[in-house]
Amino acid sequence: MCGIVGYVGRAEAAPILLDGLRRLEYRGYDSAGVAIVDRGHLATRKCSGRIAALATLVAKRPLSGSFGVSHTRWATHGKVTDENAHPHFDASGKLALVHNGVIENYQALRDDLVRGGDTNFRSETDTEVLAHLIGKLYDESCASTVDVHQKKARLFAAVRAALQQVIGTYGIALVHADVPDFMIGARRGSPLVLGVGKDENFLASDVSAIVAYTRDAVYLNDFDIVAVERDKFEISSLAGESGDHQVSKVEFTAEDIKKGVYPHYMLKEIFEQPDSVRDAMRGRLSLEECTAKLGGLNMTPAQLRDVGRIVLMGCGTALHAGRVGEYLIERLANIPTEVEFAHEFRHRNTPMTPETLVFAISQSGETADTLGALRESRRKGFRTLGICNNVASTIARESDGGVYMHAGPEIGVAATKSFSSQVVILTLIGLLFGRMRNLSTAEGSRVIEALEALPEQIEIVLKLSDQIKAIAKKYADVNGLLFFGRQFNFPIALEGALKMKEITYLFAEGHPSAELKHGIIALVRPDLPSIFIAPDDAVFSKNLNNIEQVKARKGPIIALTSGNGVNQLKNIANEIISLPAAPDCVMPILTVIPLQLLAYHLAVELGRDVDKPRNLAKSVTVE
Ligand code: F6R
Repeated sequence: MCGIVGYVGRAEAAPILLDGLRRLEYRGYDSAGVAIVDRGHLATRKCSGRIAALATLVAKRPLSGSFGVSHTRWATHGKVTDENAHPHFDASGKLALVHNGVIENYQALRDDLVRGGDTNFRSETDTEVLAHLIGKLYDESCASTVDVHQKKARLFAAVRAALQQVIGTYGIALVHADVPDFMIGARRGSPLVLGVGKDENFLASDVSAIVAYTRDAVYLNDFDIVAVERDKFEISSLAGESGDHQVSKVEFTAEDIKKGVYPHYMLKEIFEQPDSVRDAMRGRLSLEECTAKLGGLNMTPAQLRDVGRIVLMGCGTALHAGRVGEYLIERLANIPTEVEFAHEFRHRNTPMTPETLVFAISQSGETADTLGALRESRRKGFRTLGICNNVASTIARESDGGVYMHAGPEIGVAATKSFSSQVVILTLIGLLFGRMRNLSTAEGSRVIEALEALPEQIEIVLKLSDQIKAIAKKYADVNGLLFFGRQFNFPIALEGALKMKEITYLFAEGHPSAELKHGIIALVRPDLPSIFIAPDDAVFSKNLNNIEQVKARKGPIIALTSGNGVNQLKNIANEIISLPAAPDCVMPILTVIPLQLLAYHLAVELGRDVDKPRNLAKSVTVE
């Protein structure tokens, strides 16, 4: 949700900043801009539209200079216009600022500035107000200073003083025309990472922007401010204390974030699932004890045994994984488990018993709603663990422990491989807690067998891609889709509908199959296919009843099934997608993949921008 990149070094900044922005485009793509200082002169290019439009602008009117900042925007305050694109400037036009987040008290700050005589605002954004405030404080403190060291110190002090007045969230980077080879970054609530290079340093919302240049990174904490020069950096807190910050090695390389042979990141990530699922359980299964080993939970056996209730929270796809987790944990461990929208949990007074364990599920580890819920849960003293993909993300760092997904970078805006990894981890959690209670060794080893069989079974499911593409072509002119499933596959109906909405923009809804007769059946008609997720399991015959009900009303049926289901549905369903047989508790990992593929192929057929769907952005760092 907005991406920022900053550079200070010896190379030309423009290509590095544009390259970084391209890698952050998944965070927002409403508008983009860059500002670079060259020998005391600040020049900028910005425009609404994608990074490609900005690159064309820069190609027409090149920018020179070896330090600057850049931004790709997901609009929050102000329409998508060239004026509202970042960077924004102070009243003097010498300071350029890029920002990810929301300055909640921007109107009050702006009114103060206007009262002080500053009326030179060019945009409708909250960010410009912050740029003006910092610029004003700097100009007041620096009027007669010529010494460059003093200028740096005073600019730093101005940033700190301004941020002390801010209510809201920010990841910012800024440069000033009068302060050479110097950049300042700060964060509160929005991610910011410092890339440490040789004779060059970087700031970015996400390491993927800079991993082509350096794999040494410092993940900044909330309230950190960093002064960045070519060959050094200094981090201190908003309150003025210097902290302990380690340089970590980024886990992946620039190669890992290329599309390779795939036309879209989404397709690449769907096809990576045999590996990502394998990586989610690698080293975490104990065949001998028929259980899972999750040392990252930081809990003793006694503490594991004493958990009396589990709350799983997340948003969007992560929440759907949590819904599968609810069925899994209750089945395997018999612990009462609830799933909460993170944003609802945070603001309502959910009754919590002392023995409640909370999990925050988040691919990015930066989702503001989930982070807010995690903080609220910890504030109340509940042990709160993270299930995250991004190593060293804010949720991963602020939780009491957790389990990393190890799915590798997920760039496609529509989450795919992170979902299957989350479900695998929730299965491991169910297994571990189950084996601390009544789950027998025989049952435990059956779960392990089922998990270990998954990567090969996923390979088989991926081979259905061409069949699913043909189905997508056939149904490309539908007016919407309904998704139905029961038990473990009810959340898959929700996830299938979410994928469909996100990237095809078609109307899509997911429901428990049995809800059909309670109202949804009114929607059934010939141009609205129903997708039934109906593997050959204990509730197959119930699903079959619902399928017949739709059939009787001339609704087209696309059925995902397995085993005997294929025979039973062959004269009823219009299309059958036949899946390998698997125990019901791991089946969601197989049933979700055809739905990811169906959404993908339908979106391509409809000419949608699959990796950057309309109005969306990955990593939602605003509330
Ligand atoms: C759906 C999607 C979103 C995210 C949600 C949570 O394809 O990508 O619904 O799942 O915004 O994101 P994370 O998992 O990063 O917290």
